[in-house]
Amino acid sequence: MAMLIRLLLLLLSPLPLSSPPSLSACSVAEDPYSGFSLFGKTSPAAAAAAHRRNKSVAGTRTSSSTVSGAERSGGWKGDVLALATGGDAVEWVKGIRRRIHEWPELAYEEIETSRLIRDQLAGLGIGYAFPVAGTGVVAQIGTGRPPFVALRADMDALPIQEAVDWKHKSKVPGKMHACGHDAHVAMLLGAAKILKARERHLKGTVRLLFQPAEEAGIGAKRMIEDGALRDVEAIFAVHVSHEHPTSVIGSRAGPLLAGCGFFRATVRGREGLAGNPHRSVDPVLAASAAVISLQNLVSREANPLDSQVVSVASFSGGSDNLDLIPESVTFAGTFRAFSNTSFYKLRQRIEEVIVEQSSVYRCAASVDFFENERFYPPTSNDEAMNEHVRRVAVELLGADNYRVVQPMMGAEDFSFYSEVVPAAFFYIGVRNETLGSVHSGHSPYFMIDEDVLPVGAAVHAAIAERYLAELG
Ligand SMILES: *[C@@H]1O[C@H](CO)[C@@H](O)[C@H](O)[C@H]1NC(C)=O
Ligand SMILES: *[C@@H]1O[C@H](CO)[C@@H](O)[C@H](O)[C@H]1NC(C)=O
Ligand SMILES: *[C@@H]1O[C@H](CO)[C@@H](O)[C@H](O)[C@H]1NC(C)=O
Repeated sequence: MAMLIRLLLLLLSPLPLSSPPSLSACSVAEDPYSGFSLFGKTSPAAAAAAHRRNKSVAGTRTSSSTVSGAERSGGWKGDVLALATGGDAVEWVKGIRRRIHEWPELAYEEIETSRLIRDQLAGLGIGYAFPVAGTGVVAQIGTGRPPFVALRADMDALPIQEAVDWKHKSKVPGKMHACGHDAHVAMLLGAAKILKARERHLKGTVRLLFQPAEEAGIGAKRMIEDGALRDVEAIFAVHVSHEHPTSVIGSRAGPLLAGCGFFRATVRGREGLAGNPHRSVDPVLAASAAVISLQNLVSREANPLDSQVVSVASFSGGSDNLDLIPESVTFAGTFRAFSNTSFYKLRQRIEEVIVEQSSVYRCAASVDFFENERFYPPTSNDEAMNEHVRRVAVELLGADNYRVVQPMMGAEDFSFYSEVVPAAFFYIGVRNETLGSVHSGHSPYFMIDEDVLPVGAAVHAAIAERYLAELG
């Protein structure tokens, strides 16, 4: 019900979009599926397989006669930067970010954000598929043939009241882009514009994934189920970071973000008068023993050099009747790990320990892991893909603007993509002490230095284009 009201409010106060783009150059806005189909009979799966066979046989890609000498020797760099910053490009990309920032939408409710993205793509003459994973959009630029490389942006906001007073503050009470997804969308649209302008240089196809529900609802998983990664060889995504100065790129090979899961256990016994405990089966004692036993998973079973967390954050049961042993008790918490093996092992052992420890006390237990809502495997960067990010960042922005970062306990549903294809997730700094953009994501004071937007667009575009030219 609350959701319906929010939806109605949104429909009554639509985003102040610019006038609809002309459809003469591009009809995809009228029939979204006419861009291309993720499911169509013309799926390039066979072509992709042939391409991969060719690659393994020849070991090199076939060079195209359209590539000029300047392109081969790095002429792409000046052109990409000029496209990112020239003319009205900077104002355009900032304008997109501000419109999305003013009208934040939560997971799977990104209706107007998705519409804005489709309007911009149509205006640029870029074909797309919609809907993907509910509100998601998947666009393509390039030859339409393999190799395929993907770039991803997430679209959802957070249930946080913005505490920053500025001209483009959130107009929706209790909702805010406090994690920079508005900037991610703007930078990916910026990349779309650059890549479209350089389409003749693309040695394959760039697929742009505008994904719903990163903060909740694991939109990445649904994007994959809906075919977003079909034929894709590699995927990249950026996240803004308040830890690095504006436009500095950070990444690392291997584990980057923790796997993050949640659990809720229900332990059932038999209700009875507390003064006659032998007539009841006590779930309070069973659950307490299970909570104690869970502490041993990290301290006794995990390699001390392999960081892991198991925390019980909630415990409830019983009533105000202090003479009654309750029927059941629930407790819940979270777990984190940096390797896929450790993450899934923790999930399995948490369940075993709770169920078996409860049975010691004659109770029955079940554990819910919310695997369709909040379940994020670890994000680990493929070594070659991370090296590609580093090389492109250094070439485009200079060695001073790239740094190797440490792993963090936070989590990202980008991990679902990196489970399927080689992937790299990297940061782009938004920290500017003068502006005050020093607050972490999910803070009501979160803000970014918008000067990051054209740089992020250029980095995205260069990563994709150079992937196709060098690694595809
Ligand atoms: C594979 O190589 C053959 C011969 O060089 C070429 O004709 C064909 O187009 C290539 N296929 C792909 C998918 O690159
Ligand atoms: C992680 O482990 C799960 C469960 O064993 C498996 O399904 C998944 O493919 C693994 N992912 C990677 C990247 O190894
Ligand atoms: C911070 O932002 C201000 C205002 O836009 C700008 O003048 C300054 O150069 C920025 N500083 C850095 C380090 O980017």
